[in-house]
Amino acid sequence: KVLVLDYGSQYNQLLARRIREIGVFSELKSHKMTVAEIKDYNPKAIILSGGPKSVYENDAFDIDPAIFELGIPMLGVCYGMQLMAQKLGGTVEANPGNGEFGATVLSHKDQSNLLDGTPESQVVLMSHSDNVTELPAGFVIAGGSAKTPIAAIANDEKKLYGVQFHAETTISEHGTDILRNFVTNIAGAEANWHMEGFIEEQVRLIRETVGDKKVLLGLSGGVDSSVVGVLLQRAIGDQLTSIFVDHGLLRKNEADEVMESLGGKFGLNIIKVDAQERFLSKLTGITDPEQKRKIIGNEFIQVFNDEAAKLDGIEFLAQGTLYTDVIESGTDTAQTIKSHHNVGGLPEDMAFKLIEPLNKLFKDEVRVLGEALGIPHHLVWRQPFPGPGLGIRVMGAITAERLEIVRESDAILREEIANRGLDSQIWQYFTVDTGVESVGVMGDFRTYDHTVAIRAITSVDGMTADFAKIDWNVLAEISRRITNEVDHVNRVVYDITAKPPATVEWE
Ligand code: XMP
Repeated sequence: KVLVLDYGSQYNQLLARRIREIGVFSELKSHKMTVAEIKDYNPKAIILSGGPKSVYENDAFDIDPAIFELGIPMLGVCYGMQLMAQKLGGTVEANPGNGEFGATVLSHKDQSNLLDGTPESQVVLMSHSDNVTELPAGFVIAGGSAKTPIAAIANDEKKLYGVQFHAETTISEHGTDILRNFVTNIAGAEANWHMEGFIEEQVRLIRETVGDKKVLLGLSGGVDSSVVGVLLQRAIGDQLTSIFVDHGLLRKNEADEVMESLGGKFGLNIIKVDAQERFLSKLTGITDPEQKRKIIGNEFIQVFNDEAAKLDGIEFLAQGTLYTDVIESGTDTAQTIKSHHNVGGLPEDMAFKLIEPLNKLFKDEVRVLGEALGIPHHLVWRQPFPGPGLGIRVMGAITAERLEIVRESDAILREEIANRGLDSQIWQYFTVDTGVESVGVMGDFRTYDHTVAIRAITSVDGMTADFAKIDWNVLAEISRRITNEVDHVNRVVYDITAKPPATVEWE
């Protein structure tokens, strides 16, 4: 395994991820790890991450020089290279200009194993205000750019290396090749780590942490909590109890699917709470979207707490927190959890310890993990679904009838999209009860009924989006089916707005 020491760069977690992609297990740890702890950890290689500080400042994040004497191959990235250079007797100074930021051309200089096999001239991402201006003894200049004559350093004999650029970002064209050179060719790590390795490691860790104690998990039906559930089940079996709150705002058949798949196939012990009435009565007459969200969120915690209070002897609470949900301190491995991802407001006397086995992973890694655990493809790759569920897809006041309109029309939309294999091209798609009623004609009768909108978007991360250019004929068929099969709908419209200015959800 490869140890990445964290010096606070925004790309620190990406470094560990790249190494995992190369096929070698890698973890990000605090730069405060001691020599003894590192020896104990026994990594094949150490990478020092970038960071926002300057090595010559008083409060610069430091390193024990004894680490360089361990005989473990090391690579410093950006700040990490500067720290290595300075500690080993080189010089680091502020860049005389305004620093160097963005895509830059790197050229090979002295021969070194680090840049082996990569082009003489290649694009890399630079982002620094300091430069190494004098090499430490025993090093050569492996590469340089116009503004940074010393942009890659190498000591092949001691296997110590540094790159000023961010090899871990995709802007650095051959960044992954350089990291692979270091990790496999130079450090001799075997590229044999895959999700199975992660599962084994986590199962071992969870067993070690939990012992014979009991663990509670809040299942939402979403990808993250499902993956945590299946992983925990594999590690500790019946010591896990899951609570699944059906708030009545789920999609058609969703609750049954969760129970069948996780409860049935995977054998999780799930307490299903039917809280539809409870949520609906709290939501009656509420029209303000933010107020709806708040009520749904609070009620969820209430129901969860009520159920949890009935259970005895639970010591741990498991959560599907992802790396992206975790606020890193930047200087330490200690992690603070965003309040909305925690099951907040738990009673004082239920002071749970947290277990968060996914908090080093990115969403797509969690999906791969889910598949490795045997969770069906369609569950693992399903589109995002908001916590407040269909509650924010009924514009204005929620009623059971209007929820039914959204649930049924959404099911038709999903079926038609899936049948045509369009689900991989459309990021998210759903229907909305717009709250508009309009005049129509059915048979010989005038109708005055609901207008359903179809929202379908393409996006990378949900932050920006465009409406999906679905074939008219497909939309025509969906419209025909919705007006025919869903009671009280006489009109279907298609939302052709991008985000911004609109949001994905209507509320
Ligand atoms: P918006 O509507 O903000 O949606 O453009 C962006 C993405 O976030 C989802 N979304 C939510 N997810 N709780 C959630 O867990 C919420 O309150 C919420 N609001 C929106 C939305 O489905 C889309 O994928």
